[in-house]
Amino acid sequence: MTLLFEPIELRGAKARNRLVVSPMCQYSARDGQVTDWHLVHLGKFAQGGGGIVFVEATAVEARGRITHGDTGIWDDAHVAGLRRVADFVRSQGALPAIQLAHAGRKASMARPWYGNGPLTPDDVARGERPWEIVGPTDQALGDGWIRPRPIRPEDEQTLLASYRAAVRRAHAAGFDVLELHAAHGYLLHSFLSPIANRGTREDRMRFPLAVARAAREAWPAEKPLFVRVSSIDDVEGGWSLDDTVAFARELKAIGVDVIDCSSGGIQGSATAAAKTVVARVPGFQLPFAERVRKEADIKTMAVGLIITPLQAEEALTAGRADLIAIGREALYDPNWPLHAAQALGADPEMKRWPLQYGWWLVRREGLLRKLGLRR
Ligand SMILES: Cc1cc2nc3c(=O)[nH]c(=O)nc-3n(C[C@H](O)[C@H](O)[C@H](O)COP(=O)(O)O)c2cc1C
Repeated sequence: MTLLFEPIELRGAKARNRLVVSPMCQYSARDGQVTDWHLVHLGKFAQGGGGIVFVEATAVEARGRITHGDTGIWDDAHVAGLRRVADFVRSQGALPAIQLAHAGRKASMARPWYGNGPLTPDDVARGERPWEIVGPTDQALGDGWIRPRPIRPEDEQTLLASYRAAVRRAHAAGFDVLELHAAHGYLLHSFLSPIANRGTREDRMRFPLAVARAAREAWPAEKPLFVRVSSIDDVEGGWSLDDTVAFARELKAIGVDVIDCSSGGIQGSATAAAKTVVARVPGFQLPFAERVRKEADIKTMAVGLIITPLQAEEALTAGRADLIAIGREALYDPNWPLHAAQALGADPEMKRWPLQYGWWLVRREGLLRKLGLRR
């Protein structure tokens, strides 16, 4: 048995293995509603053997969308579509999970395939108008970006209410795992980082911690809560790994169960992880998951260029993380977890495959061996 394919219990939720399909925006929602695209996209990953399958960054307020195509959970009308996805993911043996997000000063952008920048007249011609955005200060992401309206104390109360309502809707939709997006330059990260906000570390952590507290209170005690952080800004004078360890300790005290250790994104590039982050080598963010796990004494999820099954298994056995998330590898091969189980010898009979495929594919393996195409 491998550690990767050993089930893991997180509060009252039990994942069949330690592989997580990372949240990945599809920019394919309509008015925040998931579509059949999301059902098939996420359904494939559940069939493909992931232990936990995440719905992408889903906006707690309409103005907190990155683009017009983001999924949303700001209205009760969003619940039914999300429930259909969650139900199907569960029917395939994976835990359905959702990432709650607010894009803050990185809201109101064009979809990546239309340039990933501020909305242009071409976008407006397609019916996609820019909207008013908010941030911890009025400092824009960069030249040419919309200047955010600074969030005042009364706005914080409104935002906390939006988060609470979104958490309740995530529960109503049947998700087992909830993650708060506090990474990649979006609202909560922009509060934390000295690049985007002012004040001491305690001042900057105050609002994100209030959100985590509100989420923990609204989310059932038997369900696990994750927080995704940008472990480092990797910018001179930015948020550091020491800051992340301090933040993780506070989150643990609130009842957060897992810190999902990403990095970057505080300035410039609009895409998820930073362009600048240290050398882009396989497992480049693993050292962050390792240090947070050791120093804040909390479970961590490692993500970022985890490419091979052996790499994932070794990260777990070395105690560097508790969960392994894959993003682009899952897009490339939605059956990555099933293939990893075979490669690591954890599924010789192909019993982890959906019944509809496994009974047939195990015979195919025999045939391939006879033909000398398998050892
Ligand atoms: C298409 C795409 C969309 C993404 N959307 C999100 C998102 O919604 N939320 C998030 O936290 N990260 C997002 N990311 C980042 C991934 O979750 C992941 O952290 C990153 O791709 C690194 O992992 P990988 O090397 O396995 O792809 C996205 C990445 C990709 C490729």
